[in-house]
Amino acid sequence: MTRNWKLIIPTIFIALFFIQCKEKFPHGDPDNGGLFLPKGFEAEVVVDSLKGAARHLAVNSNGDIYVKTRIVKGHQGVIAALRDKDNDGKADRIEYFDDYPDNSSYGTGMRIYNGYLYFSSITTVYRQKLTDGDLVPDSKVETVLTDTQPPGQHDAKPIVFDGKGNMFIPFGASSDCCQVNDRVPFSPGQNPCPYLELRASIYRFDANKINQFQRDGYKYATGLRSVVAMAWDSASDHLYGVAHGRDYLHPDWPLYYSEWESAMLPSEEFLKLEDGSNAGWPYYYYDQMQGKLLLNPEYGGDGKKEGEGKKYQQPLIGFPGHFAPNDLLFYRGNQFPAHYKNGAFIAFHGSTSSAPYPQAGYAVCFVPFKNGEPSGPWEVFADGFAGMDTIVNTSDAKYRPMGLAVGPDGSLYVSDSEKGRIWRIMYRGDKNKFDSTNLEGMAYRKSHAPNLKTPDPIKDNLRKGGVPQVAATYTKYCAICHQANGLGNDRFPPLSGSEWVNGNKDSLINIVLLGLKGTVQVKGKTYDNNMPRLNMLTDEEIAEALTYIRQNFQNTSSTVSSDDVSKARLALDKREVKTKVISKK
Ligand code: HEC
Repeated sequence: MTRNWKLIIPTIFIALFFIQCKEKFPHGDPDNGGLFLPKGFEAEVVVDSLKGAARHLAVNSNGDIYVKTRIVKGHQGVIAALRDKDNDGKADRIEYFDDYPDNSSYGTGMRIYNGYLYFSSITTVYRQKLTDGDLVPDSKVETVLTDTQPPGQHDAKPIVFDGKGNMFIPFGASSDCCQVNDRVPFSPGQNPCPYLELRASIYRFDANKINQFQRDGYKYATGLRSVVAMAWDSASDHLYGVAHGRDYLHPDWPLYYSEWESAMLPSEEFLKLEDGSNAGWPYYYYDQMQGKLLLNPEYGGDGKKEGEGKKYQQPLIGFPGHFAPNDLLFYRGNQFPAHYKNGAFIAFHGSTSSAPYPQAGYAVCFVPFKNGEPSGPWEVFADGFAGMDTIVNTSDAKYRPMGLAVGPDGSLYVSDSEKGRIWRIMYRGDKNKFDSTNLEGMAYRKSHAPNLKTPDPIKDNLRKGGVPQVAATYTKYCAICHQANGLGNDRFPPLSGSEWVNGNKDSLINIVLLGLKGTVQVKGKTYDNNMPRLNMLTDEEIAEALTYIRQNFQNTSSTVSSDDVSKARLALDKREVKTKVISKK
């Protein structure tokens, strides 16, 4: 009897110890912070809204979280540091710090390496030594790398380390598809493309050296338009990236691509990048429906021609178009079921230019991996960020996933670019009973996945309820960028309440006839993008679109007639600016 007690008492203590440990691991929020997750997973909101909203994030070995935020007025600190003092999973100390010189809003990278916090603006990679135990470091900010080329498109600077002293940084292409006139209908591609020399590539640098320039680096991989999601997989010892594909297949090449093809294509390419890899931009793009690289229309393609596509790096997976992959993470933690071990999580920020089809891809997806290759089809892991089912306009989405990081206990952290929310995703089920094919609760996979293959229901759905006839031209030619609700998004300015829309008619007509480049101010916000000239539209079509935008989206200005357009066109022709309707043949 006494013997038994000698066994039972320690057993009780051990059991109590484990129960206590389990309680140290917080429960998810009752609604999982609005996310849909595979069965057994729970999510909690670590912080609801960070100033400036979130870009990428990193979690230190003590659980402290560092988030790169965007600049907002009257608030200088651009890194948010979060600490959970009482272990309930919620951040209860939030500090904003750092005032580095070039704090441009788009900078995005955030990684911890060798005791340093590495982060970036669009032109510069910085680092700051973390101080043991201190949430906010008090060390000097050092400049690791400066990109001296003028800022352009696709300039985000994500940061990757291989653990062997190297750092990988992409230099994005300052163009959509290297056209003579960027994003202008029917404009041919430059051949050879000059951006291939110093941009559209990933460079390798010394991870431990400061004050480096592009010329100090080694061009590791090229033919890449824009890579924001990038990671080193230590299991296979390789660099991987998910590249953003080009835009505007239909607006620029309406003869070869339908609106639906333009919303679905080209792929966002998941690439295994070797020393010397060339992914084919701007000459080739990947079509996930045909399963091959195809020649871009700027270089003679027509949606079918393969050209020499086989010579270039083939993607491991072609994700649907415009999903906007913005972070990649190989899961090495021990908390999740075996299915996830060494696999790749990808944060898709979601499309901005899929109209007249719904915007898509606002989710964190997962790709199982074995021996450095995908070992099964990709799956939606976390969904529900947008807070709605059919996302018509980018601005309708409540949250948009941006960055990924793993905490010391194997929890997965996800940041949001809209409100600055951070989620912590944990597995609380029985690991041995986990079934990755159980889709219970996975709203996205059930309701959206089939639509990715069948175009018409989406179109009919969106148009059901009847878009008024006068909206037709707007929907067809403008909504892809300015959105169906006229509110625009990060890249495209709003038409609602815009000074340009409600001001002088001739200047407005000229925007459509000539396009618009360089920085413009709309409602106090600066945009620096490129609106293609749409002079191939008839006078009637332009009048219809402009009347529509002047009398909708809460605008109440006068109509524009086809006479007004025809006069403006003539006046420009006299100034010898070619605005004739281009023959589409
Ligand atoms: C391919 C994307 C794209 C398409 C298609 C497009 N725009 Fe734009 N538009 C832009 C961008 C980008 C700007 C800002 C340009 C800049 O930053 O210099 C802009 C600016 C404008 C502006 C001035 C700024 C503002 O917000 O009021 C107006 C007006 C406008 N567009 C109207 C239209 C109309 C009307 C159509 C359809 C006939 C159209 N756009 C089609 C991308 C587009």
